[in-house]
Amino acid sequence: MPTDSTNPSAPTDSAAPSRRAFLRGVGIAGAATAAAVGASACAEEAEEGEAGGVDKPADGWSETTVAFDGEHQAGIATPQQSFCKLIAFTIKDNKQTREDIVRLMRLWTDDARRMCGGRAGLADLEPENLQSTANLTITVGYGRSLLDKLDLADEAPDWLAELPAYSRDELREEWSGGDICLQVCADDRFTVAHAARFMVKGARSYADVAWVQDGFLHARGSIQPGETPRNLFGQLDGTGNPAVDEFDSVVWIDEGPAWTKGGTAMVVRRIAMLLDEWDILDRPSREVVSGRRLDNGAPLSGTDEFDEPDLDARDEFGLPVIDPNSHMARAKSTDPAERIFRRPYNYDMPPGPDSRGTSNAGQMFICFQKNPLRQFDPIQQRLDSADRLNEWITHIGSAVFAVPRGTADGEYWGQDLFGGRG
Ligand code: HEM
Repeated sequence: MPTDSTNPSAPTDSAAPSRRAFLRGVGIAGAATAAAVGASACAEEAEEGEAGGVDKPADGWSETTVAFDGEHQAGIATPQQSFCKLIAFTIKDNKQTREDIVRLMRLWTDDARRMCGGRAGLADLEPENLQSTANLTITVGYGRSLLDKLDLADEAPDWLAELPAYSRDELREEWSGGDICLQVCADDRFTVAHAARFMVKGARSYADVAWVQDGFLHARGSIQPGETPRNLFGQLDGTGNPAVDEFDSVVWIDEGPAWTKGGTAMVVRRIAMLLDEWDILDRPSREVVSGRRLDNGAPLSGTDEFDEPDLDARDEFGLPVIDPNSHMARAKSTDPAERIFRRPYNYDMPPGPDSRGTSNAGQMFICFQKNPLRQFDPIQQRLDSADRLNEWITHIGSAVFAVPRGTADGEYWGQDLFGGRG
Protein backbone atom coordinates (compact mmCIF):
# COMPACT_ATOMS: atom_id res chain seq x y z
CA MET A 1 0.00 0.00 0.00
CA PRO A 2 1.45 3.39 -0.89
CA THR A 3 2.09 5.81 1.92
CA ASP A 4 -0.38 8.70 2.03
CA SER A 5 1.25 11.58 3.85
CA THR A 6 -2.04 13.52 4.01
CA ASN A 7 -3.85 10.75 5.87
CA PRO A 8 -2.85 10.65 9.54
CA SER A 9 -4.07 7.08 9.90
CA ALA A 10 -2.10 5.80 6.93
CA PRO A 11 1.11 3.89 7.69
CA THR A 12 4.37 5.71 7.10
CA ASP A 13 7.70 4.26 5.93
CA SER A 14 8.73 3.96 9.57
CA ALA A 15 8.79 0.82 11.70
CA ALA A 16 4.99 0.48 11.96
CA PRO A 17 4.41 -1.88 8.99
CA SER A 18 7.31 -4.11 9.88
CA ARG A 19 6.04 -4.45 13.45
CA ARG A 20 2.57 -5.29 12.15
CA ALA A 21 4.00 -7.83 9.74
CA PHE A 22 6.04 -9.30 12.56
CA LEU A 23 3.00 -9.68 14.81
CA ARG A 24 0.94 -11.12 11.94
CA GLY A 25 3.61 -13.71 11.29
CA VAL A 26 3.44 -15.40 14.70
CA GLY A 27 0.87 -17.97 15.76
CA ILE A 28 -1.13 -17.91 18.98
CA ALA A 29 1.55 -19.90 20.80
CA GLY A 30 4.05 -17.19 20.05
CA ALA A 31 1.72 -14.31 20.77
CA ALA A 32 2.83 -13.64 24.34
CA THR A 33 6.49 -13.54 23.40
CA ALA A 34 5.65 -11.45 20.37
CA ALA A 35 3.71 -9.03 22.52
CA ALA A 36 6.65 -8.69 24.88
CA VAL A 37 9.14 -8.18 22.05
CA GLY A 38 6.73 -5.91 20.21
CA ALA A 39 6.19 -3.91 23.36
CA SER A 40 9.86 -3.23 23.85
CA ALA A 41 10.15 -2.29 20.16
CA CYS A 42 7.29 0.16 20.63
CA ALA A 43 8.95 1.59 23.70
CA GLU A 44 12.18 2.11 21.77
CA GLU A 45 10.29 3.94 19.07
CA ALA A 46 8.57 6.01 21.68
CA GLU A 47 11.97 6.93 23.12
CA GLU A 48 12.66 8.58 19.80
CA GLY A 49 10.11 11.15 20.82
CA GLU A 50 7.06 10.29 18.78
CA ALA A 51 4.16 8.04 19.62
CA GLY A 52 4.66 5.11 17.31
CA GLY A 53 6.18 6.84 14.31
CA VAL A 54 2.84 7.92 12.82
CA ASP A 55 2.57 11.22 10.97
CA LYS A 56 0.60 13.68 13.05
CA PRO A 57 -2.27 15.62 11.55
CA ALA A 58 -1.21 19.05 10.47
CA ASP A 59 -4.10 21.03 11.91
CA GLY A 60 -2.06 22.18 14.90
CA TRP A 61 -4.04 21.65 18.03
CA SER A 62 -3.98 17.86 18.16
CA GLU A 63 -0.24 18.07 18.89
CA THR A 64 -0.67 20.50 21.74
CA THR A 65 0.91 19.40 25.00
CA VAL A 66 0.49 20.68 28.53
CA ALA A 67 3.64 20.63 30.69
CA PHE A 68 3.44 17.64 33.03
CA ASP A 69 6.04 18.76 35.60
CA GLY A 70 5.62 21.99 37.51
CA GLU A 71 4.90 23.52 40.89
CA HIS A 72 1.31 22.28 40.74
CA GLN A 73 -0.13 19.28 38.92
CA ALA A 74 -1.62 19.99 35.52
CA GLY A 75 -5.34 19.47 34.93
CA ILE A 76 -6.48 22.05 37.48
CA ALA A 77 -5.46 25.50 36.28
CA THR A 78 -5.21 24.06 32.75
CA PRO A 79 -7.93 25.51 30.48
CA GLN A 80 -10.65 22.90 30.60
CA GLN A 81 -10.27 20.25 27.92
CA SER A 82 -13.33 18.81 26.16
CA PHE A 83 -13.27 15.30 27.63
CA CYS A 84 -12.53 13.85 31.03
CA LYS A 85 -12.43 10.44 32.65
CA LEU A 86 -12.26 10.07 36.40
CA ILE A 87 -11.09 6.68 37.60
CA ALA A 88 -11.12 5.71 41.27
CA PHE A 89 -9.06 2.74 42.46
CA THR A 90 -9.05 0.45 45.48
CA ILE A 91 -5.62 -0.90 46.28
CA LYS A 92 -5.37 -4.67 46.51
CA ASP A 93 -5.25 -6.35 49.92
CA ASN A 94 -1.74 -7.66 49.30
CA LYS A 95 -0.36 -4.30 48.07
CA GLN A 96 -0.89 -2.17 51.12
CA THR A 97 2.67 -1.21 51.96
CA ARG A 98 4.33 2.11 51.16
CA GLU A 99 6.91 0.25 49.06
CA ASP A 100 4.10 -1.11 46.85
CA ILE A 101 2.54 2.31 46.42
CA VAL A 102 5.90 3.94 45.72
CA ARG A 103 6.41 1.35 42.96
CA LEU A 104 2.99 2.14 41.50
CA MET A 105 3.57 5.91 41.74
CA ARG A 106 6.96 5.66 40.04
CA LEU A 107 5.47 3.60 37.22
CA TRP A 108 2.42 5.81 36.83
CA THR A 109 4.30 9.10 37.01
CA ASP A 110 6.74 7.96 34.38
CA ASP A 111 3.96 6.79 32.04
CA ALA A 112 1.84 9.90 32.63
CA ARG A 113 4.87 12.17 32.04
CA ARG A 114 5.66 10.35 28.81
CA MET A 115 2.11 10.32 27.47
CA CYS A 116 1.39 13.95 28.33
CA GLY A 117 4.62 14.85 26.55
CA GLY A 118 3.51 13.03 23.41
CA ARG A 119 5.56 9.85 23.91
CA ALA A 120 3.95 6.45 24.34
CA GLY A 121 3.93 4.93 27.81
CA LEU A 122 6.61 2.35 28.48
CA ALA A 123 5.85 -0.92 26.65
CA ASP A 124 2.63 0.49 25.18
CA LEU A 125 1.29 -2.06 22.69
CA GLU A 126 -0.67 0.61 20.82
CA PRO A 127 1.74 3.56 20.71
CA GLU A 128 0.01 4.93 17.60
CA ASN A 129 -3.04 5.59 19.72
CA LEU A 130 -1.27 8.56 21.22
CA GLN A 131 -1.01 10.17 17.83
CA SER A 132 -2.88 13.17 19.17
CA THR A 133 -1.81 14.51 22.59
CA ALA A 134 -4.62 17.10 22.44
CA ASN A 135 -3.65 18.81 25.72
CA LEU A 136 -3.63 15.56 27.66
CA THR A 137 -3.31 15.94 31.43
CA ILE A 138 -3.28 13.21 34.06
CA THR A 139 -3.80 14.28 37.66
CA VAL A 140 -3.62 12.09 40.76
CA GLY A 141 -5.40 12.39 44.12
CA TYR A 142 -5.39 10.28 47.29
CA GLY A 143 -8.42 9.35 49.38
CA ARG A 144 -8.38 9.11 53.17
CA SER A 145 -8.76 5.32 52.93
CA LEU A 146 -5.37 5.09 51.19
CA LEU A 147 -3.62 6.87 54.02
CA ASP A 148 -5.39 4.68 56.58
CA LYS A 149 -4.39 1.50 54.75
CA LEU A 150 -0.75 2.61 54.58
CA ASP A 151 -0.65 3.58 58.24
CA LEU A 152 -0.29 7.25 57.32
CA ALA A 153 -3.43 8.49 59.09
CA ASP A 154 -1.39 10.99 61.11
CA GLU A 155 -0.39 12.64 57.80
CA ALA A 156 -4.03 13.20 56.76
CA PRO A 157 -5.35 16.77 56.87
CA ASP A 158 -8.62 17.01 58.82
CA TRP A 159 -10.60 17.68 55.63
CA LEU A 160 -9.46 14.44 53.98
CA ALA A 161 -12.52 12.45 55.00
CA GLU A 162 -16.06 11.83 53.81
CA LEU A 163 -18.02 15.06 53.52
CA PRO A 164 -20.78 15.68 56.05
CA ALA A 165 -24.08 14.07 55.01
CA TYR A 166 -26.50 16.53 53.38
CA SER A 167 -30.24 16.10 53.83
CA ARG A 168 -31.00 15.65 50.15
CA ASP A 169 -28.13 13.25 49.39
CA GLU A 170 -28.97 9.98 47.69
CA LEU A 171 -25.40 8.76 47.48
CA ARG A 172 -24.59 5.43 45.90
CA GLU A 173 -21.54 3.37 46.74
CA GLU A 174 -20.88 2.74 43.05
CA TRP A 175 -20.06 6.47 42.60
CA SER A 176 -18.42 7.21 45.95
CA GLY A 177 -15.08 7.02 47.75
CA GLY A 178 -11.87 5.50 46.42
CA ASP A 179 -8.27 5.09 47.61
CA ILE A 180 -6.75 6.85 44.60
CA CYS A 181 -8.28 8.91 41.82
CA LEU A 182 -6.90 9.68 38.37
CA GLN A 183 -8.36 12.55 36.37
CA VAL A 184 -7.53 12.10 32.68
CA CYS A 185 -8.50 15.04 30.43
CA ALA A 186 -7.82 15.86 26.77
CA ASP A 187 -9.41 17.54 23.78
CA ASP A 188 -9.62 14.20 21.99
CA ARG A 189 -11.81 11.49 23.51
CA PHE A 190 -9.70 8.85 21.81
CA THR A 191 -6.60 10.13 23.62
CA VAL A 192 -8.47 10.07 26.93
CA ALA A 193 -9.60 6.48 26.33
CA HIS A 194 -6.12 5.28 25.45
CA ALA A 195 -4.28 7.11 28.23
CA ALA A 196 -6.84 6.04 30.82
CA ARG A 197 -6.69 2.41 29.75
CA PHE A 198 -2.91 2.47 29.80
CA MET A 199 -2.89 3.80 33.36
CA VAL A 200 -5.44 1.16 34.43
CA LYS A 201 -3.28 -1.56 32.84
CA GLY A 202 -0.22 -0.26 34.68
CA ALA A 203 -2.07 -0.50 37.99
CA ARG A 204 -3.44 -3.97 37.37
CA SER A 205 -1.29 -5.81 39.90
CA TYR A 206 -1.62 -3.06 42.52
CA ALA A 207 -5.19 -1.80 42.44
CA ASP A 208 -8.70 -2.54 41.17
CA VAL A 209 -10.97 -0.01 39.51
CA ALA A 210 -13.66 1.13 41.98
CA TRP A 211 -15.61 3.39 39.62
CA VAL A 212 -15.21 5.31 36.38
CA GLN A 213 -16.97 8.52 35.37
CA ASP A 214 -16.90 9.82 31.85
CA GLY A 215 -17.60 13.46 31.10
CA PHE A 216 -17.64 15.92 28.22
CA LEU A 217 -18.00 19.59 27.37
CA HIS A 218 -18.28 21.17 23.95
CA ALA A 219 -15.81 19.76 21.44
CA ARG A 220 -12.81 21.92 20.65
CA GLY A 221 -13.84 24.44 18.00
CA SER A 222 -17.54 24.39 18.92
CA ILE A 223 -17.12 27.40 21.17
CA GLN A 224 -14.43 30.07 21.25
CA PRO A 225 -11.38 29.50 23.48
CA GLY A 226 -12.10 31.04 26.88
CA GLU A 227 -15.87 31.10 26.30
CA THR A 228 -17.92 29.76 29.22
CA PRO A 229 -19.28 26.29 28.38
CA ARG A 230 -22.94 25.30 28.81
CA ASN A 231 -24.29 22.45 30.91
CA LEU A 232 -27.15 20.17 29.85
CA PHE A 233 -29.73 22.53 31.40
CA GLY A 234 -28.55 25.03 28.79
CA GLN A 235 -26.94 27.33 31.36
CA LEU A 236 -23.54 28.96 31.00
CA ASP A 237 -21.66 27.23 33.80
CA GLY A 238 -18.43 28.66 35.18
CA THR A 239 -19.02 32.42 35.00
CA GLY A 240 -18.51 33.08 38.73
CA ASN A 241 -15.31 31.01 38.95
CA PRO A 242 -12.17 32.59 40.41
CA ALA A 243 -9.49 33.45 37.86
CA VAL A 244 -6.22 31.50 37.81
CA ASP A 245 -4.38 34.46 39.39
CA GLU A 246 -6.64 34.00 42.44
CA PHE A 247 -5.66 30.34 42.91
CA ASP A 248 -3.08 31.12 45.61
CA SER A 249 -5.90 32.28 47.86
CA VAL A 250 -8.57 29.78 46.73
CA VAL A 251 -6.99 26.57 45.43
CA TRP A 252 -3.34 25.91 46.33
CA ILE A 253 -2.76 24.65 49.86
CA ASP A 254 -0.25 26.54 52.01
CA GLU A 255 -0.89 25.10 55.48
CA GLY A 256 -1.35 21.71 57.13
CA PRO A 257 0.75 18.57 56.55
CA ALA A 258 3.89 19.43 54.54
CA TRP A 259 3.13 16.96 51.73
CA THR A 260 -0.16 18.71 50.92
CA LYS A 261 1.45 22.12 50.33
CA GLY A 262 1.37 23.21 46.70
CA GLY A 263 -1.41 20.69 46.18
CA THR A 264 -5.16 21.08 46.47
CA ALA A 265 -8.31 19.35 47.69
CA MET A 266 -10.54 17.81 45.03
CA VAL A 267 -14.24 17.25 45.67
CA VAL A 268 -16.15 15.05 43.24
CA ARG A 269 -19.94 14.94 43.34
CA ARG A 270 -21.96 13.02 40.81
CA ILE A 271 -25.16 15.01 40.36
CA ALA A 272 -28.07 13.62 38.37
CA MET A 273 -29.95 16.30 36.43
CA LEU A 274 -33.62 15.56 35.84
CA LEU A 275 -33.76 16.84 32.29
CA ASP A 276 -37.20 15.42 31.54
CA GLU A 277 -38.73 17.33 34.45
CA TRP A 278 -36.70 20.45 33.61
CA ASP A 279 -38.39 20.29 30.17
CA ILE A 280 -41.68 21.25 31.80
CA LEU A 281 -40.36 24.62 33.03
CA ASP A 282 -40.82 27.68 30.85
CA ARG A 283 -37.84 29.89 30.04
CA PRO A 284 -38.50 32.73 32.53
CA SER A 285 -38.89 30.19 35.36
CA ARG A 286 -35.61 28.56 34.38
CA GLU A 287 -33.90 31.93 34.66
CA VAL A 288 -35.44 32.55 38.09
CA VAL A 289 -34.07 29.16 39.23
CA SER A 290 -30.48 30.01 38.37
CA GLY A 291 -30.60 33.81 38.83
CA ARG A 292 -29.04 34.31 35.41
CA ARG A 293 -30.22 34.72 31.82
CA LEU A 294 -30.05 31.65 29.65
CA ASP A 295 -28.88 33.36 26.47
CA ASN A 296 -25.76 35.17 27.67
CA GLY A 297 -25.48 34.16 31.34
CA ALA A 298 -25.92 37.73 32.63
CA PRO A 299 -27.24 38.06 36.19
CA LEU A 300 -30.94 39.00 36.11
CA SER A 301 -29.89 42.36 37.59
CA GLY A 302 -27.54 43.09 34.66
CA THR A 303 -27.01 42.75 30.94
CA ASP A 304 -23.54 41.24 30.49
CA GLU A 305 -22.32 37.79 31.62
CA PHE A 306 -19.63 39.29 33.84
CA ASP A 307 -21.72 42.07 35.42
CA GLU A 308 -21.51 41.86 39.21
CA PRO A 309 -24.88 40.43 40.37
CA ASP A 310 -26.87 42.91 42.50
CA LEU A 311 -28.65 40.72 45.03
CA ASP A 312 -30.42 43.77 46.52
CA ALA A 313 -31.93 44.98 43.23
CA ARG A 314 -35.77 45.32 43.27
CA ASP A 315 -38.25 45.48 40.41
CA GLU A 316 -41.11 48.02 40.07
CA PHE A 317 -43.19 46.00 42.55
CA GLY A 318 -40.40 46.00 45.13
CA LEU A 319 -39.67 42.31 44.58
CA PRO A 320 -36.09 40.97 44.37
CA VAL A 321 -34.85 40.83 40.76
CA ILE A 322 -32.66 37.86 41.68
CA ASP A 323 -34.60 35.31 43.72
CA PRO A 324 -32.76 34.86 47.06
CA ASN A 325 -33.25 31.10 46.65
CA SER A 326 -31.88 31.00 43.12
CA HIS A 327 -28.84 28.76 42.70
CA MET A 328 -26.53 31.70 42.16
CA ALA A 329 -27.76 33.64 45.20
CA ARG A 330 -27.46 30.59 47.47
CA ALA A 331 -24.03 29.61 46.09
CA LYS A 332 -22.60 33.11 46.35
CA SER A 333 -20.76 34.02 49.50
CA THR A 334 -19.76 37.35 50.94
CA ASP A 335 -16.80 35.57 52.56
CA PRO A 336 -13.90 35.53 50.06
CA ALA A 337 -12.40 32.54 51.91
CA GLU A 338 -15.43 30.47 50.90
CA ARG A 339 -14.84 30.37 47.15
CA ILE A 340 -14.18 27.20 45.14
CA PHE A 341 -12.89 26.57 41.63
CA ARG A 342 -15.42 24.47 39.67
CA ARG A 343 -14.18 22.28 36.80
CA PRO A 344 -17.27 20.18 36.06
CA TYR A 345 -18.12 17.96 33.08
CA ASN A 346 -21.45 16.76 31.74
CA TYR A 347 -22.40 13.11 31.59
CA ASP A 348 -25.06 11.55 29.39
CA MET A 349 -25.57 7.83 29.73
CA PRO A 350 -28.07 5.40 28.26
CA PRO A 351 -31.24 5.55 30.39
CA GLY A 352 -31.23 2.95 33.16
CA PRO A 353 -34.29 0.90 34.12
CA ASP A 354 -34.72 3.02 37.24
CA SER A 355 -34.40 6.42 35.55
CA ARG A 356 -37.34 8.73 36.06
CA GLY A 357 -37.58 9.71 32.42
CA THR A 358 -35.85 9.07 29.16
CA SER A 359 -32.55 10.65 30.18
CA ASN A 360 -29.77 9.57 32.50
CA ALA A 361 -27.71 12.71 32.48
CA GLY A 362 -26.08 15.09 34.87
CA GLN A 363 -22.92 16.71 36.03
CA MET A 364 -19.64 15.20 37.09
CA PHE A 365 -19.12 18.09 39.50
CA ILE A 366 -15.42 18.54 40.25
CA CYS A 367 -14.14 21.41 42.33
CA PHE A 368 -10.77 22.39 43.79
CA GLN A 369 -10.04 24.34 46.92
CA LYS A 370 -7.63 24.54 49.87
CA ASN A 371 -10.05 23.02 52.36
CA PRO A 372 -13.47 21.53 51.50
CA LEU A 373 -14.71 21.92 55.08
CA ARG A 374 -14.21 25.68 54.89
CA GLN A 375 -15.10 26.13 51.21
CA PHE A 376 -17.27 23.45 49.57
CA ASP A 377 -19.18 22.49 52.73
CA PRO A 378 -20.69 25.87 53.75
CA ILE A 379 -21.77 26.44 50.13
CA GLN A 380 -23.30 22.97 49.87
CA GLN A 381 -25.03 23.43 53.26
CA ARG A 382 -26.76 26.53 51.87
CA LEU A 383 -27.66 24.83 48.58
CA ASP A 384 -28.93 21.73 50.36
CA SER A 385 -31.23 23.70 52.64
CA ALA A 386 -32.74 25.97 49.97
CA ASP A 387 -31.79 26.10 46.32
CA ARG A 388 -34.50 26.27 43.68
CA LEU A 389 -32.35 24.01 41.51
CA ASN A 390 -32.77 21.15 44.02
CA GLU A 391 -36.04 20.10 42.44
CA TRP A 392 -34.14 19.12 39.28
CA ILE A 393 -30.91 17.68 40.69
CA THR A 394 -29.91 14.79 42.97
CA HIS A 395 -26.43 14.18 44.39
CA ILE A 396 -25.73 10.47 43.82
CA GLY A 397 -21.97 10.20 44.39
CA SER A 398 -19.31 11.82 46.54
CA ALA A 399 -15.56 11.62 47.04
CA VAL A 400 -12.74 13.76 48.39
CA PHE A 401 -9.10 13.45 47.32
CA ALA A 402 -5.89 15.18 48.32
CA VAL A 403 -4.04 16.18 45.17
CA PRO A 404 -0.30 16.43 45.95
CA ARG A 405 1.91 19.17 44.54
CA GLY A 406 3.36 18.92 41.04
CA THR A 407 6.57 17.07 40.25
CA ALA A 408 10.03 18.10 39.08
CA ASP A 409 11.60 16.02 36.34
CA GLY A 410 12.46 12.58 37.75
CA GLU A 411 10.22 12.90 40.81
CA TYR A 412 7.15 10.74 41.33
CA TRP A 413 3.65 11.64 42.49
CA GLY A 414 3.27 11.84 46.25
CA GLN A 415 7.01 11.54 46.90
CA ASP A 416 6.80 13.78 49.99
CA LEU A 417 4.13 11.55 51.48
CA PHE A 418 5.31 8.05 50.61
CA GLY A 419 9.03 8.59 50.11
CA GLY A 420 9.75 10.62 53.20
CA ARG A 421 8.70 7.79 55.51
CA GLY A 422 10.20 4.31 56.14
C1 HEM B 1 -25.88 19.87 38.61
C2 HEM B 1 -25.58 20.72 39.56
C3 HEM B 1 -25.26 22.16 39.33
C4 HEM B 1 -25.57 22.97 38.29
C5 HEM B 1 -26.35 22.63 37.04
C6 HEM B 1 -25.01 24.27 38.57
C7 HEM B 1 -25.11 25.37 37.74
C8 HEM B 1 -24.61 26.62 38.05
C9 HEM B 1 -24.81 27.79 37.26
C10 HEM B 1 -25.57 27.83 35.93
C11 HEM B 1 -24.22 28.82 37.85
C12 HEM B 1 -24.18 30.29 37.41
C13 HEM B 1 -23.03 30.58 36.49
C14 HEM B 1 -21.70 30.43 37.14
O1 HEM B 1 -21.25 31.23 37.95
O2 HEM B 1 -21.07 29.42 36.83
C15 HEM B 1 -23.60 28.30 39.04
C16 HEM B 1 -22.87 29.04 39.93
C17 HEM B 1 -22.27 28.53 41.04
N1 HEM B 1 -22.40 27.26 41.54
FE1 HEM B 1 -23.44 25.77 40.70
N2 HEM B 1 -24.37 24.21 39.78
C18 HEM B 1 -24.50 22.95 40.28
C19 HEM B 1 -24.02 22.47 41.47
C20 HEM B 1 -23.23 23.20 42.34
C21 HEM B 1 -22.65 22.69 43.55
C22 HEM B 1 -22.80 21.28 44.10
C23 HEM B 1 -21.92 23.70 44.09
C24 HEM B 1 -21.09 23.72 45.35
C25 HEM B 1 -21.43 23.22 46.49
C26 HEM B 1 -22.07 24.85 43.24
C27 HEM B 1 -21.48 26.06 43.45
C28 HEM B 1 -21.62 27.16 42.66
C29 HEM B 1 -20.93 28.41 42.90
C30 HEM B 1 -19.95 28.72 44.01
C31 HEM B 1 -21.36 29.29 41.90
C32 HEM B 1 -20.92 30.75 41.69
C33 HEM B 1 -21.74 31.67 42.50
C34 HEM B 1 -21.22 33.08 42.34
O3 HEM B 1 -20.35 33.45 43.12
O4 HEM B 1 -21.71 33.77 41.44
N3 HEM B 1 -22.88 24.51 42.18
N4 HEM B 1 -23.87 26.95 39.15
